[in-house]
Amino acid sequence: MMDLHKPKGTEDLFGKSMRAWTNMQRIAAKIFDRYGFDLIETPTMEQLDVFTHGIGTSTDVVRKEMFRVFSGANLTRVLEEGSDEGLKAAQRLALRPEGTAGFARAAIENTFVPQGGAPCKMYYAGPMFRGEDVQKGRLREFHQIGVEVLGAEEPALDAEVIIMLMQFFGELGLSKNDMVLKINSMGDATCRPSYRDKVAAFIKTYESDMCPECKKRADTNPLRAFDCKNPHCREIMQGAPLISDMLCDECAAHYAAVKRYLDEANIAYVEDPTLVRGLDYYGRTVFEVEATSGVGAQSAIGGGGRYDGLMELVGGKPTPGIGFAVGFERIMLSLDAIGIDLAGPAPSCIYVAKTSESLRDEVFNLCLALRKEGFRTEADYQNRSLKSQFKQADKLNAIACLVLGEDEVASHTVTVRNMQTHEQTSVAVKDVADYLKSVQQETH
Ligand code: HAM
Repeated sequence: MMDLHKPKGTEDLFGKSMRAWTNMQRIAAKIFDRYGFDLIETPTMEQLDVFTHGIGTSTDVVRKEMFRVFSGANLTRVLEEGSDEGLKAAQRLALRPEGTAGFARAAIENTFVPQGGAPCKMYYAGPMFRGEDVQKGRLREFHQIGVEVLGAEEPALDAEVIIMLMQFFGELGLSKNDMVLKINSMGDATCRPSYRDKVAAFIKTYESDMCPECKKRADTNPLRAFDCKNPHCREIMQGAPLISDMLCDECAAHYAAVKRYLDEANIAYVEDPTLVRGLDYYGRTVFEVEATSGVGAQSAIGGGGRYDGLMELVGGKPTPGIGFAVGFERIMLSLDAIGIDLAGPAPSCIYVAKTSESLRDEVFNLCLALRKEGFRTEADYQNRSLKSQFKQADKLNAIACLVLGEDEVASHTVTVRNMQTHEQTSVAVKDVADYLKSVQQETH
């Protein structure tokens, strides 16, 4: 007997979870449209270089969490040669761990931002893949909705993107008490290098007390030490130099303007000068939203920031950018915890029942006619008794059951059974669509 299971850290989406995912995308589309965003879909796999250059080779995501992809012949070659070094760059593929680097690649390839062009605003929704240790709220295949803006560096845009994110969460049903918005500025190419050096020097001073990973970070990516999971390292890092004390004048002014716009829009935030984010492309504004209930240790339900240097890293012209992504599964944990049902009720339908198998063709035709009128229409395909057809209609959430018998067929009528009141009414076939529309209106 075969005993097959879904891979660890993946989920089947269907029924309630699928309805919730669809509704989340619908709400995103509604809110993001007001801000001028269009939908984009990029491939779920990209050339590995898109991620190594875009996200950074020293990030956990690229170092430890990539799912590599090889097509048949290339896989054989990699297994034989024990490495993928013999493959061309275009043959070295990976599943996307996030959407921004692939979006930047698409923006260059399709010239989304022509010289002097208007900012490009796009959003996406789809699965992302990270080979992480699985725990509550941390999956290997998870779903993000993300937005990206290219071509403008005005602080008003940073604020608008954050306001749009908070509006989206609000529309899902999360209130101010259910989440905390954290913001920071990570500086730019002028001020961050010297800040990085200071943090590296700080880590080296305390390295005998810090974990081996942080010791390495001093040389590779010192700012990541702020996010070390080791409580002792975290404690030490509380004394580390803060970027807020070292921003250059331009970055400080940009950050101050972002905060002023957020204040004007009445958006509550907490400044967290240790917020550094896990992907290397960020500079200046960064932000994260943490849920206050339901999510456990993985409390970030969304995050993002400015990435003014990313387009160059993946082979484009200098183009400023900013965006965010939210995690569907984590948002669901927090919505569940506060009792919000994003899935809503299962869809209702019209069920066409028959009193005898000989009326199968009449049922078939009536179903087709009702579907043309726009009704979700169901019928029995297994020659059930009338009683079990009613039971099935209940299971399928039918608001009305149309019963066809010999008499009804002879008189061109149907008996409509209201599934809520169990009242039965005889209706002429030609009037049945209008009648059902009125039943539908009463039920909703
Ligand atoms: P991120 O912070 O890595 O940012 O991911 C965004 C959100 O995806 C997280 O806040 C979390 O809700 C969800 N998420 C991340 N990893 C997992 C996981 N293993 N399991 C479940 N949910 C997860 C980005 O991905 C950036 N690309 C966001 C961005 C867009 N920045 C600029 N533009």
